[in-house]
Amino acid sequence: MDARPRYDRATETLDPPFAILDLDAMRANAADLVRRAGGKPIRVATKSIRCRPVLERIMAMDGFHGLMAFTLPEALWLARSGFADILVAYPTADRAALAELAGDPRLAREITVTVDSVEHLDYVDDVVADVHPRPEIRICLDIDAGYIAFGGKFRAGALRSTVREPEQAADLAAEIAKRPGFRLAGLMAYEAQIAGVGDAPPGNPAMTRAIRLMQQRSARELVMRRGRVVNAVRQFCDLDFVNGGGTGSIERTVREKAVTEVAAGSGFFHPRLFDFYRAFTGHPAAFFALPVVRRPGPATVTVLGGGYLASGPAGPSRLPQPYLPPGLRYAPDEGAGEVQTPLLGEAAEDLRVGDRVWFRHAKAGELCERFAALHLIEGDDLVGTVPTYRGEGKTFL
Ligand SMILES: Cc1ncc(COP(=O)(O)O)c(C=O)c1O
Repeated sequence: MDARPRYDRATETLDPPFAILDLDAMRANAADLVRRAGGKPIRVATKSIRCRPVLERIMAMDGFHGLMAFTLPEALWLARSGFADILVAYPTADRAALAELAGDPRLAREITVTVDSVEHLDYVDDVVADVHPRPEIRICLDIDAGYIAFGGKFRAGALRSTVREPEQAADLAAEIAKRPGFRLAGLMAYEAQIAGVGDAPPGNPAMTRAIRLMQQRSARELVMRRGRVVNAVRQFCDLDFVNGGGTGSIERTVREKAVTEVAAGSGFFHPRLFDFYRAFTGHPAAFFALPVVRRPGPATVTVLGGGYLASGPAGPSRLPQPYLPPGLRYAPDEGAGEVQTPLLGEAAEDLRVGDRVWFRHAKAGELCERFAALHLIEGDDLVGTVPTYRGEGKTFL
């Protein structure tokens, strides 16, 4: 059956706004991520899920090992609720959370924090100076995986770590190895310019060619440099993991011998921004429904709310996509509004007050910051309702 009548019927007792997760679509996406990973484990990026019961379902499937959390308070909460092997992928300056981590050996065993400088180590030392005895804090070294060309005049990739070359990584690894209270457990090098940039963007052939060329060169440079960084660091310690990649780069990243695992999160929900990759075609799985509340003119309806913009550089790509019925577009002067959103197009002719319009968020987990629950759809049925992080009173970012 078409998705729209199926979703409408399964949720007919609910009043929008609400969000749904199509479990069949998510499972198909998960299976495809595992296939693309070719036998290497996938660490699940929680920022792109933000719902504990859904994380539990994912971790029960084969192919997934460990979580990649986005804040230390989140990781502590997840570890306390039974999740294991949690890498906090972004540096933390949260004193209370660091003290909590150092105060509980079980938490310290399950959680790894990320650093890219001696300043980060000093910060942790300062904060936990009064904790005795102190369990070893597990450390992940963040390596810059960005692409630099033309003598530094061109750079692609996220501005993260300044640790880039094998010698720099070795210096920091040596520092960690000689400091009591820390154990270097892993390396992470996230190639955002490949994993998070679609290589088939619509309507701009010159840009498409430039992206593909950049990604090809970056991947070629990274396979050498990441390998050399890992070798340099392994002189000082045994690494439990070397993490790289994301939903958009899995098959490329796992080909590198030095990489032991890949990260992925967005691929489960398959939000709008992930429609533009050649290597895979996901199934949209997460949606929100907004009610039609008025019909201000021909071929125009207005839905309640809608302004759930995604993070990143502001622009049309960050808008939610009016998805079903197909063919609706925003009014140029209003876009996705704070309290109401006009939608234009032939498809509006058939919509009546009380009908739903189904949207996709541009990104994955941010949807769950807008809704307290995800309603779970399986086949033609509503099979459950689970709280998002927000629904559990947790707004980590
Ligand atoms: C460190 C790191 N790894 C991996 C990812 C990829 O996540 P996703 O699969 O959700 O795109 C991200 C996304 O920002 C990240 O920051």
